[in-house]
Amino acid sequence: MFFSNMFRKKCRKLFFTTPSHSQEYFIFHKLKNLYKYDISETDFYSPEDVLEAAEMRASEIYGTKKTKFLTNGSTSGVIASVLACVEPGDNVLVWRDAHPCHLNAIKLAGGVPVYYDVKFSDSWGVPLGAGVEDLEPSFVQHKITAVLITSPTYEGFVADIVAIKRLCEKYGAYLIVDEAHGALYPFSDELPLSAVRIADFTVQSLHKTAGGLNPTALVHCNCDKDIDSALKLIMTTSPSYPMLGSIEANINFLNSKRGRRKIESLVAQIKKLHTVCPNCQFGGDDILKILVKVPNFSGYELSEILYDKFNIEDEKTNSVSTMLLTGIGTSERKVLRLAQALKRIY
Ligand SMILES: Cc1ncc(COP(=O)(O)O)c(C=O)c1O
Repeated sequence: MFFSNMFRKKCRKLFFTTPSHSQEYFIFHKLKNLYKYDISETDFYSPEDVLEAAEMRASEIYGTKKTKFLTNGSTSGVIASVLACVEPGDNVLVWRDAHPCHLNAIKLAGGVPVYYDVKFSDSWGVPLGAGVEDLEPSFVQHKITAVLITSPTYEGFVADIVAIKRLCEKYGAYLIVDEAHGALYPFSDELPLSAVRIADFTVQSLHKTAGGLNPTALVHCNCDKDIDSALKLIMTTSPSYPMLGSIEANINFLNSKRGRRKIESLVAQIKKLHTVCPNCQFGGDDILKILVKVPNFSGYELSEILYDKFNIEDEKTNSVSTMLLTGIGTSERKVLRLAQALKRIY
């Protein structure tokens, strides 16, 4: 839609404008088509209007007040969300081990970090999702303006977003959910509940699990704070329209019957993997993050065996367990290969 709207009329214009490659691919021919669509804001194409319409359609799909396309990852979405609702000197509740962009966002906004810890799962060697009980003591001690939550965690544990939103409402704080690893959640009932319709701001990386190009992402907003102005503080004034166009296509695919069926089929394949590998234990709240351990092997040993003997590289390992990330592009063949490998490890 994005590109077809923009390139519908045949262009006979001579553009004396940026970008200087003039939609020719003489420098790096492997990206031939990308150059063709890499345009700037000209009167003829007017891509800003097309972008605005695409973002409005996305907002309808997600059921949000506003959805913005990002070409600088969830990092930029988290920073913009904090800039939108935090004034210098405001207290911001932040997980001590959060992704570095959380603290960077607070620094940029001039906020004051108030740290919280979450429970640790010794049986999986990873942190669990934040609980109301991890957060409430800080509300009693400080006037908190905004709360940053990571859900799901890197290894696939989710927080009770509904309860945390209620807590934030009780104390008049904004809730920002870093759902970087949960971009498929709005499109399947088999996956954890997404924060997109609940939190004040939810940030999702399309590139991590949803098939997007690096580093495409989304920020969803459900409050009156001005996310557009916050984004203007940090985003380039020369956005990449090929990337923005890919975001729209990505969302349309996830929302299509084909996209939803692909997610369902992946979930079914992983459920099957669980049943055919009775020697393994599987953990976490998000089935698409295969958090696995095998008795008598440490996570590091399991990771090494998978790598050396079966040519399989995991996403993240700790002393107890190993996490293999899947996403919308994970083929059935890949899941089968993993199942075959895991079955052979005793
Ligand atoms: C929990 C979490 N939040 C945010 C980010 C940043 O995401 P992006 O790479 O899309 O900027 C990451 C990246 O690994 C992450 O793991």
